[in-house]
Amino acid sequence: MPEVLDKLINDHRNFETLMQIIEQEMRVFETGEHPDYELVRSVLNYLLTYPDLHHHPLEDVVVRKLICRTTENQVPGPAELAEEHRRLASTIRRFLAALNNILIDVMLPRDWFCNIAREFVAFQRKHMQMEEVVIFAMAKRSLSAAEWSRIATHMGAPADPLFGPDPDADFAELRARLGTAPMSN
Ligand SMILES: [Fe+2]
Repeated sequence: MPEVLDKLINDHRNFETLMQIIEQEMRVFETGEHPDYELVRSVLNYLLTYPDLHHHPLEDVVVRKLICRTTENQVPGPAELAEEHRRLASTIRRFLAALNNILIDVMLPRDWFCNIAREFVAFQRKHMQMEEVVIFAMAKRSLSAAEWSRIATHMGAPADPLFGPDPDADFAELRARLGTAPMSN
């Protein structure tokens, strides 16, 4: 497996772990108890920063390379992938705004908040699945070792503030929670 794909898939496994934390907290909310809102906010803040700074740009490079090599039209082009990443970020911002509203107004319908959370988790999972099944699989079949090593020059130093070797203090609580959750690395 090319190192770049290994890295992208490992990121996805980490994002999936975060989806499970959101689902666990939403189950608490659904029972009428108080979930750890700050933990959920921390997950969303991470998902609004690290992927856009490091994960998505690397996927963009793979897609740009791939689009020169394939005529298969189910593979999204750079513009389509960028649009999908924009939609993903807007579902996260919507969830974050809903979270802030819930904290200041307890009278908001619980179903409304649950639906926003559910829509975000479903979209994130569908997006990762599309990338793995369509983009990564095609890239693995089509790109040469030389192309993968050129793509790898875009990887940069490990900069993941949550799952990386030098975690950010802002994510300390979330790191502690991950220590009790199944992780892929
Ligand atoms: Fe991705």
